[in-house]
Amino acid sequence: MPTLREDRLSRDIDALISSTLKHLRERWWNAEFTEFLRETLQPHAGDRILDVGCGVGTAEVTLGQLGISQLKLFGVDLISTRVRQAVEASRKHNVRAGFVAADARTLPFMDEAFDSTFCVAVLQHVRDVSGAVQEFARVTKPGGRVLVVEPDNAARYWYSSTSAGADAFELATRFFRAIETLGDGMDLAVGPRISEVFTRHGIEATAIRLFLVSRVRLGAPPPAVWHARLEIVEGAIDRVQDESLRRMGADYLRVLDRYAKEATAAGPRFVEIQSTTLFATVGKKTPTEPA
Ligand SMILES: C[S@@+](CC[C@H](N)C(=O)[O-])C[C@H]1O[C@@H](n2cnc3c(N)ncnc32)[C@H](O)[C@@H]1O
Repeated sequence: MPTLREDRLSRDIDALISSTLKHLRERWWNAEFTEFLRETLQPHAGDRILDVGCGVGTAEVTLGQLGISQLKLFGVDLISTRVRQAVEASRKHNVRAGFVAADARTLPFMDEAFDSTFCVAVLQHVRDVSGAVQEFARVTKPGGRVLVVEPDNAARYWYSSTSAGADAFELATRFFRAIETLGDGMDLAVGPRISEVFTRHGIEATAIRLFLVSRVRLGAPPPAVWHARLEIVEGAIDRVQDESLRRMGADYLRVLDRYAKEATAAGPRFVEIQSTTLFATVGKKTPTEPA
């Protein structure tokens, strides 16, 4: 069996099964990221903090466990099943947080309701990024923090020591982009562009911090890795109706199978490196001028 050494902090990044970070949700959320969030949001007792696109409540559980008394955490997500999962997760961890299903572009809160507002890996899925950021500015108090963490999905890095690896990455990107509706109107490179959007909506960008999310495989992955990859692609093909997309998926499956064979034949000489960068843009809502 070839030796397999992996980057411990980001074990689940896999560009072959998604075009975004969506499958990584909580996995790259490590101690360094939590510390950054705490430093940036500067939560104090009694503060109201809003997490837009909260998913299954990772941020609420993490922030809620910092032990800051009377912190008022709120999470919003477009998908109500995620909201229910977030409610369950915070209950399980004994964290007090309020959740509601809503769209980032029409937040159900009054103006200046929060001391800080943040979102993580959400705007990559939103067509109207400017409209969402405008809402973040509206619901945040003057002088309050706004934090947006998003990747640049257009600039993912990929290296494979086998030729089929390059073909697999190319086909995976095309196939998943097509089925995840990232093609039309979505800004793939949203991460580095947030500071410009902030400025348009009265948020002063004060810092941009980069987080590298990466995975290195040295030596051919075991069969279970290939089975998991193939299963995810097969599942994705089953969910699409469009014939041309199904054909694209079938082509991808064939390439993935070839990739698995080439990698296994290379054994310990096999190398696969993938990485993507998260851009964390920190902003401060500009105080309004007295009339
Ligand atoms: C990759 S997940 C990130 C979840 C969470 N922020 C985290 O880091 O674990 C993206 C989340 O954004 C939500 N989302 C996508 N579009 C949204 C919108 N327009 N308004 C609110 N939430 C949205 C999705 O439902 C999903 O739960």
